[in-house]
Amino acid sequence: MSKILVTGGTGYIGSHTVVELYNAGYTPVIVDNLSNSNIRILDQLEKITGKRPEFHQFDLCDEAKVFAFVQQHPDIAGIIHFAASKAVGESVEQPLKYYHNNFFSLVNLLRAYQDKPINFVFSSSCTVYGEPDELPVTEAAPVKKATSPYGNTKQIAEEILEETANAHGNYHVIALRYFNPVGAHESALIGELPLGVPQNLLPFITQTAIGKREKLTVFGGDYDTPDGSCIRDYIHVVDLAKAHVAAIRLLEKGNPRGNYDVFNVGTGNGYSVLEAIAAFERASGQKLNYVIGPRREGDIIKVWGDVTKSAAELGWKAELGIDEMMSSAWAWEQYLSEHPLS
Ligand code: NAD
Ligand code: WQD
Repeated sequence: MSKILVTGGTGYIGSHTVVELYNAGYTPVIVDNLSNSNIRILDQLEKITGKRPEFHQFDLCDEAKVFAFVQQHPDIAGIIHFAASKAVGESVEQPLKYYHNNFFSLVNLLRAYQDKPINFVFSSSCTVYGEPDELPVTEAAPVKKATSPYGNTKQIAEEILEETANAHGNYHVIALRYFNPVGAHESALIGELPLGVPQNLLPFITQTAIGKREKLTVFGGDYDTPDGSCIRDYIHVVDLAKAHVAAIRLLEKGNPRGNYDVFNVGTGNGYSVLEAIAAFERASGQKLNYVIGPRREGDIIKVWGDVTKSAAELGWKAELGIDEMMSSAWAWEQYLSEHPLS
């Protein structure tokens, strides 16, 4: 079956996508520099799938290495490009790290394929919508001025991809705009591995429940929402992984909508922070220690996606709900406390 290059394949979303590629009959090939992931994920992937993915450790910002890799792997039929730096707060403190890593890796990859037909799936984000004027937000909604260098890298990367696909017929591109990926594989052998203090809600919840953090602070309880806390469209990482397989399939068939397309990848449902906490308490059977604190600067108040286009054109729909997201995230945190990976 065809080989798919998965950049960032030992990372959180990449590792789950490697599993789903195997399940769908593809052969994933991973490139990762391990800047934000752990080599032992390869053992975990082997335990789940019975196969050890081909793995290459190098930095995609290294142009010569990218070109050499592409030359030595003429049988790569598609690329899923996850590799990027992704911490919003850090990007405000170190914008050049983000512009360097996220752009050089993308442009090197694209340039290495300038003479070859290639199917390319890109990790974008609902961050491009900012605070949407209408909900649920559709792919046709305007892209708002980014509030962080990280968000800006996603917006500009989408533009780079669209312009490249329009100019050169060999690039067939789909950008997936993820909402909030959470949860873990049902085996509890892979999941999110945040470095240091988690900035995202779910790992902070599970680390609090396991006793690594004292308490969760809910960032703001006085927003204009039914319970005063912010609303997000949380998406199970396994559903998200399957969306990438659907995107590769659509590109292989030939996307009738053209060489560049974008899709929302969410469930279409919004949950508040307090609802997410209640769902976690239900799924884990544990009370969570939390307080309502001040707002976090720059937070979007409410966002959830319209997933009509993804269902119709990509043939993909989320299957797992908030209960599975919470129970799998909790099972993974418990596994990690008994089998630390780092
Ligand atoms: P992650 O950090 O777990 O995975 C990214 C992987 O890329 C890591 O394994 C890292 O070591 C690798 N990497 C980074 N720079 C590299 C480089 N120059 N060369 C080679 N490898 C490199 O992140 P994730 O949560 O799995 O996110 C994957 C993608 O999805 C990213 O592009 C991210 O911006 C995007 N995204 C993530 C979220 C989210 O909330 N997790 C939401 C929307 C979009
Ligand atoms: C979710 C909700 C917080 C932590 C970020 C990026 C975005 C995308 C996903 C990549 C919010 C609240 C959180 C805590 C809390 N990444 N919260 N206490 O802000 O939707 O998006 O990650 O593209 O670009 O900006 O995700 O998980 O940080 O927050 O109350 O300790 O949880 O205020 O309402 P967010 P998050």
